[in-house]
Order: sequence, then C-alpha cells, then structure tokens
Amino acid sequence: MPVHALAHPLAAHLVTHLRDETTKPALFRTLTHQLSLLLALEATRDLLTRDTTVRTPLETTTGRVLAKPLVVVPILRAGLGMVEPITTFFPDVSVGYIGLERDHATAVARSYYCKLPPLAGTRVLVVDPMLATGGSAVQALDAIADAGGSDICLLNIVASPEGIRAVTGSHPAVTVYTAAIDRALDARKYILPGLGDFGDRLYGT
Ligand code: PRP
Ligand code: URA
Repeated sequence: MPVHALAHPLAAHLVTHLRDETTKPALFRTLTHQLSLLLALEATRDLLTRDTTVRTPLETTTGRVLAKPLVVVPILRAGLGMVEPITTFFPDVSVGYIGLERDHATAVARSYYCKLPPLAGTRVLVVDPMLATGGSAVQALDAIADAGGSDICLLNIVASPEGIRAVTGSHPAVTVYTAAIDRALDARKYILPGLGDFGDRLYGT
C-alpha cells in the first residue's frame, strides 16, 4: 500500500494540539509548519544522491549531495501553510500552485487556478493538510500528471479512509504520507474526529 502514516511520537503530539478547538491561529500555524517538515522528511527519505568532492579546511574528501530537485505544489488555500518549511530546508525547490475550493453544499471541488513549473526529472510534493473525499487531491494529481509529473508524493496532515481510497484508486503510483488517518466523514464531508476547517483555523477566518 503506498500510504505511510507518521509513526513518530512527536507527530501524534503535534496532531493532538492541532485538533484542540482552543488552539489559536498562531499556534495552529506553528504546529502546521512542524508537521509539514516531518512529512517532507519522510517523503524524501529515498531521494537519490550523487557523489561529489568537497574541500574541508584540512583536506579534500568525498560526500553526497541531493541529485533530484523538488517541486512543492500546495493546493490553495490551506496547503500554503505547508510550503515554507519545505522551501526553507531543501536547497533546490520550485513551487507550483493549484487553486481548488470545495462547494459548501456539494463538497465537490472547483478549480480556479493552476500554475506549475517544469516537472520532468523532479520529485513533486503535493501538499494539502486535509484529505476528505479525495476530490481535491485527485483533481490536483490529474493536473500534475497531465503536466508531466511522474514521481509524485501527496502530503496530508489528516486523511480519511475514503480519501485514501479515492487517491490510491485513481493514482496508484502516488505515495501518500499523512500524520493521521481518521475514522470517517460526516454528512457534510468533514473528517471525524478531524480538526474542523483547516483553512479557516490557519488563517483565522
Ligand atoms: C479543504 C482542504 C482540501 C479539501 C479536502 O479545502 O484544504 O483542499 O478541503 O476536501 P476533499 O478531499 O473532500 O476535496 P477547501 O476546499 O475547504 O478550501 P480552502 O483551503 O480554501 O479552505
Ligand atoms: N476540509 C477541511 O478543512 N476539513 C475537513 O474536515 C474536510 C475538508
């Protein structure tokens, strides 16, 4: 199964505080950054490296450097909260944007923006904190595959079983990394127990 749930105790700790309804936007953003870095480290654990030589103050030695550039693609708007830790910690990253918004009545996502850099030869990290029905993620992955992306990981903070089934069913080559796999969706297609509307809590709207 191409689905990895973070097993680190710190991830569980951070998700619990993110779920807490009393957590204010400033702390919510910090927790989002921390979890995004943990997810990005997992999703790049197998990145290729190449040999190089480096001169230390004492002598020349061999080392290894990352051989594959990253592209991070947030699904707007909540995915934006996951970008900064990745661009800060990885040396060669470009950023694409996909704008999708769920209709409040139908929970079907509508596309309103798409701008992607060249994807050939890169590892693409699609970041969106919530995977509910999977409709947004599947649309984003369709667009990335159409644009030439082939080495793709989806990074979520909370995923539902239904969303995981939708993604793995339509994009079996995509690896999913998530900090938590929750129980179910409610009648409005919100994740249970979840943490509510991620974008609203991130931006205080
Ligand atoms: C949320 C979330 C995902 C989507 C998940 O975004 O950030 O993109 O819902 O739901 P799905 O798996 O059922 O498609 P939303 O559409 O609420 O937009 P926002 O990020 O602008 O708040
Ligand atoms: N989007 C969210 O922000 N939260 C959910 O529970 C489902 C979709």
